[in-house]
Amino acid sequence: MAARLREPSFTSCSSTFSSDTDDEGVRGTCEDASLCKRFAVSIGYWHDPYIQHFVRLCKERKAPEINRGYFARVHGVSQLIKAFLRKTECHCQILNLGAGMDTTFWKLKDENLLPSKYFEVDFPMIVTRKIHNIKSKPPLSKPIAELHSEDTIQIDGHMLNSKRYAIIGADLRDLCELEEKLKKCHMNAQLPTLLITECVLIYMTPEQSANLLKWAANSFDNAMFINYEQVNMGDRFGQIMIENLRRRQCDLAGVEMCKSLDSQKERLLSCGWETASVVDMMELYSRLPRSEVMRIESLEFLDEMELLEQLMQHYCLCWATKGGRELGVCLYCY
Ligand SMILES: C[S@@+](CC[C@H](N)C(=O)[O-])C[C@H]1O[C@@H](n2cnc3c(N)ncnc32)[C@H](O)[C@@H]1O
Repeated sequence: MAARLREPSFTSCSSTFSSDTDDEGVRGTCEDASLCKRFAVSIGYWHDPYIQHFVRLCKERKAPEINRGYFARVHGVSQLIKAFLRKTECHCQILNLGAGMDTTFWKLKDENLLPSKYFEVDFPMIVTRKIHNIKSKPPLSKPIAELHSEDTIQIDGHMLNSKRYAIIGADLRDLCELEEKLKKCHMNAQLPTLLITECVLIYMTPEQSANLLKWAANSFDNAMFINYEQVNMGDRFGQIMIENLRRRQCDLAGVEMCKSLDSQKERLLSCGWETASVVDMMELYSRLPRSEVMRIESLEFLDEMELLEQLMQHYCLCWATKGGRELGVCLYCY
């Protein structure tokens, strides 16, 4: 019998999170990222039939360099995820930390590439909103229900746990809480594990992000970590990015870890990861398949290539592994 999504009349998860009021600006970045992704999808940069169910289409156009930047980001992260899934033959788990309104779970299901279990974590308020969307939109709830062998799926305001998908409301700075909730949702430390942070670590202090990276390295024998975020933040352009976000009450508490490609790589190695690689997004863009670049560049006219270069030189994609060379993946193997 097909599973239904239902809301039990009781909850087993804690519902008090002291940080909720302090982190408004950081939570706001979830909206920014999903609005940008939705806009880029609406004009054909990539295919994502699910993002429309999480966020409205914004009225103002996003600049072409922003859309191209998001294309490269989504493409790069997705390349690494698929490489990991191929290496492990999908016998693995994925933990998307600070997932916001990310739609990777649904897209992987469509491609028959789901891991044994896919977990998402974000602040409880974000998770409550995402669960509401999932419950009320059949294109989101059906794929979860189809994969679930029991009658009902466990849901409370801050957590949904099903056979192949779980979403958990937790603060990534509180590792005891994070681990406890992941275990409650049957995280399996023995499985090869891919952890993803896409524009998340920069909102934590260097100590807090180091603790998260160390926890991840110590918790799984075979693991890979993908981190996408800002880099080269010490220059004028970086300062403007910092000031813009500060004006919106969003502090980049971890900006000092985003000084250079080397500092990004070093932090992974010093937190217990055995191999680490990093590439800036301009380098990644220049190595995208020619046909894809021609396709997206024909979608919108960009008169100043320097705008794209400047933006892309301030973001990077990093990946680290531990527990065996077999997890070494190739970013440019198309
Ligand atoms: C810029 S958004 C990116 C969302 C998603 N990763 C994406 O790329 O579309 C950053 C996300 O990280 C989450 N986040 C930041 N710090 C967090 C923390 N300490 N605990 C849980 N979530 C956090 C925010 O709520 C937000 O959803």
